[in-house]
Parts: sequence; C-alpha cells; structure tokens
Amino acid sequence: MAEQITQLRILEHVQRLGEQHPPISLDSVDREVRDPRAVTEKYGHVVDYLARVELEVDRNVLELLVLLPDVQEVDRLFYADVWQPQEIQHGLILDRLQQDLGRPATVPELEVSMKMKVMGALAHFSSIQDIARLLYYLTGASTERQAVLAYNVINDGMRQLGESAIAETIITPIKQQEPGHFAFYRMSATALVQSGELKPWQLYLARVLREKTYNLVGTNGQDRYRAQMGGVATALGFTDDLEKYAREVGRIEAQLLWADQQGMDFPPYVLKALRQSIDLYKERGFEAA
Ligand SMILES: [Fe+2]
Ligand SMILES: [Fe+2]
Repeated sequence: MAEQITQLRILEHVQRLGEQHPPISLDSVDREVRDPRAVTEKYGHVVDYLARVELEVDRNVLELLVLLPDVQEVDRLFYADVWQPQEIQHGLILDRLQQDLGRPATVPELEVSMKMKVMGALAHFSSIQDIARLLYYLTGASTERQAVLAYNVINDGMRQLGESAIAETIITPIKQQEPGHFAFYRMSATALVQSGELKPWQLYLARVLREKTYNLVGTNGQDRYRAQMGGVATALGFTDDLEKYAREVGRIEAQLLWADQQGMDFPPYVLKALRQSIDLYKERGFEAA
C-alpha cells in the first residue's frame, strides 16, 4: 500500500519551499563566461529552449486560472507564492545568459490557446474541473521531472567545459528548486487519486485526454517546438536510452493512472511523443518555423 498523503503534508511542503527557496536574484549570478563559442555550440539551443519554457510560466498561470476557476487554497499558494516567482527568475537568468553568449533574446508564447479556453469553459462543471486538476498535477509532475533531468546534465556539461561560474551560480541554484516543484505535483496527484473522489468515468476520461494531449515540456502542442525538444533531448544525450528517459518522466503517471496495467513502467504515449520529437528534429533541425 502506498503511503497516504494528506493535504496538510502538501501544505507544509509548499510552506517549506517558500521559506527555504527564495527566488534567485539576477544579482547573485556571476556572469563570467570563459568560452562563449564553446558554450553556444554545445548548449545554445538548449538554453534558449529552457529560457522560453521558464518564461512561459506567466502563461501557465493564466491557463491555470482558466482551467481551475475554483482553485484550492494550497494550489493557489503554490503557484502564486512559490512556483511563479521562482520560475520567472529561472527564465530571466537563462535568457540573460544566452544574450551574454551573443544570442537573441528568447520569445515566450504568452497567449492562452483556444483549446485551453474551451477546456476552461467546461471546467465550470465541478466534475470536469476535478479531471482538469488531475491532468494539471500530472502535467506538472512530468514537466518538472524533465526540468530536473535537463539541469542535471547541463550542470555536469558546464563543469566539463570549465564554465564553473555558469554551473555554480546559474544551473546549480536553478536545479535545486526543481525537485520541490516535482514533489508538489507528485504528492498532489497521488493525494487526489488516493482520496477516491474521482469516479471511474472521470479516471477513464483523464486517461483518454492524457493519451490524446500528452506533450513533452515546452512543446505547446506545436511541431516547431516538438522539433526543438527533439534537439534538446539529442543535445543532452537522452536519445542514447529513450526508454530510460520515458521511465523517469512517466513513472508516476503509470502508477497513478494506469495502475491496472500490470508492469507498465511508463505510458506508451510518453515514448511516442519522444520519438516524434526526435524524428521532427531530424527532419527540420532546430530553427524551422
Ligand atoms: Fe524552473
Ligand atoms: Fe519548476
């Protein structure tokens, strides 16, 4: 039997994150770059991708308000007091890094999509909103896990390049804030499923929607970003063992949503999305519109 996760525990987790992890200030960064050309060659596109994803937190908050019109206090506390203030700094710091490297500023997508607005209109029915909540937590767990994995690799890579200022004052501090986000979503999704509040038809619909709409981090359902994500996964070496990556990213979801499927390590749509991204990258490269 899995451990029981209470709302109190989640609340305490959020409060702890707020106390222990203040947003990283731009001034705390040592902007020394030893070899901008080498960093650009190895990680230029990756930094751009991550800067955009982090800066899109402002759109994610708008989407959240659309999707969860009756947002719970602990969720509100998390996104308003912890998550958004931390992520926006990640974005600003990474975007300044890439401009220090001589690359153009990133262009985040800040417009809430039509799809999201339709889902939001439906979410005024409380039974639909409960499904939206579960999908929000699962999306959060999957994307935050991808952030953790990416920053781990970049941190090692920057050290290998001898870029200790970037590693120590940018990537390490950012990387330390991501696991707490992942834990919030993991605990919240687990608590919701354990509560038994969701009826079988709601869980069924959640599975169908997840299967149809699963997106890797930052792809926004668009092929040009999918291709870029394929480039990021390639640059970070995740393509060497895609199933391992899918397992890391999809494990929680397999356990919570697909528990009846014996022995499933990750939902098949996670690996499918990865393969699709990599194929698009091979076809189009990074810059294709
Ligand atoms: Fe972040
Ligand atoms: Fe995060």
